[in-house]
Amino acid sequence: MDKIKSLTGMLDLYDDGDNSLLPAKLFYLEEKIKHIFKSYKLNEIRTPVLEDANLFIRSVGGASDIVNKEIYSFNDRNDKGIALRPEGTASVIRSIVEKKLDQSNHKLWYLGPMWRYERPQKGRYRQFNQAGVEILGIPEGMPEFEMISIVCSIITEFNLENCTIKINHLGNQKSKESFCNALIDFLEPHKKLLDEKDNQRLEKNPLRVLDSKNTNTQEILKNAPSMKEFLDSSSVNLLNSIKNEFSDICDIEIDYTLVRGLDYYSGFVFEAVSSNLGAQDSFLGGGRYDQLCAKLGGKNLPSIGMAIGLERFAELIEVNNLPEKVVSFIVVTGNLEPKAYKIAHQLRSLNKDIVLDIHLSEGSLKAKLRKANKNNSHYAIIIGEEELKANTAIIKPLKNELEEQKTVSIDDLHSFFKSL
Ligand code: HAM
Repeated sequence: MDKIKSLTGMLDLYDDGDNSLLPAKLFYLEEKIKHIFKSYKLNEIRTPVLEDANLFIRSVGGASDIVNKEIYSFNDRNDKGIALRPEGTASVIRSIVEKKLDQSNHKLWYLGPMWRYERPQKGRYRQFNQAGVEILGIPEGMPEFEMISIVCSIITEFNLENCTIKINHLGNQKSKESFCNALIDFLEPHKKLLDEKDNQRLEKNPLRVLDSKNTNTQEILKNAPSMKEFLDSSSVNLLNSIKNEFSDICDIEIDYTLVRGLDYYSGFVFEAVSSNLGAQDSFLGGGRYDQLCAKLGGKNLPSIGMAIGLERFAELIEVNNLPEKVVSFIVVTGNLEPKAYKIAHQLRSLNKDIVLDIHLSEGSLKAKLRKANKNNSHYAIIIGEEELKANTAIIKPLKNELEEQKTVSIDDLHSFFKSL
């Protein structure tokens, strides 16, 4: 019978595959990121992965690539247009509006899979995971600082190198309008040289042309008016003061060409990029979106948020940096030895920070030690027939060549395990 294959761009994550250690890294990242979110007193929100397709059409916007060609949508049995969420912000605001939650002040986080029908490549998948933050109800000012503080905490907590936080401001209503008009005037004479996608952008949301990957367009844009010339002083001051306050913690760059790929942004925007990532170098992005709530039928709700792409973030973390201590538990007798499993059970309860990997399949000691090394184990605890009889175990160090292998009593094994 034919084998059924996974869908393009959808990863099966397991530790031995091409994406070696990705699940372990994601688990580690997610735990640590949640901890950081908690330290900012953010509350978790979980929304459904399926939404009314109109939610994203209205929020993420008709000029965005997401809505134009990347949304996963279908009609359900009732002929209702349904979409798999391509991002989390729209759902959070939909939930706040629908449940009529107190709109005064929310600080929220979420984590989960998102779907976009993109051309898959390294760092770009059709199903991927995001961890996001949304701070709702407070106008421009303090939340911008809080948001960049969260980004800096994440970058420093993971000791990420070669990272830059790019920041920009899309201006107030008036300056944005003047800049858009100047950009349209500049691009109109070059229309014939722009590709279809950039012409569409020019029509629907001219700012998005600045995000073009087309080299012709990029060449033309070299002489385009700069957003900087149009920004009001309070927007420029905000950018400068964020740069001044946080530059000693993280590399921060004001980039007046930075525009984001979703239509709902209105003021301060940012992205974190790493030169270690290749073409898809942005591992985190966000910004202010003060008009979204009203667009979704709610009141005016000034808001700002960001999302981290966890698969890209995982690329930045060295396997050796994974702090978990793994110990392999190897039973080498021909028979099933319940006593050995009881010993392993007791060890686990003695030190919950240690990962105890019991090697269940049959095989030689050599093969099991090879697996222990592959597992990144720090020690192997070996129990054979002799050890079972004498109530002892062998502790074999696998990482430290200076440490010697020793045979110890089960009581001493307990003490050793506790001390790890
Ligand atoms: P976004 O820039 O579209 O923003 O996505 C955030 C991050 O998700 C990106 O920086 C990237 O790391 C990751 N990402 C996006 N698409 C893919 C993909 N196809 N494969 C792998 N990773 C991907 C948002 O989603 C906004 N909702 C962020 C936000 C929250 N703005 C305000 N609040």
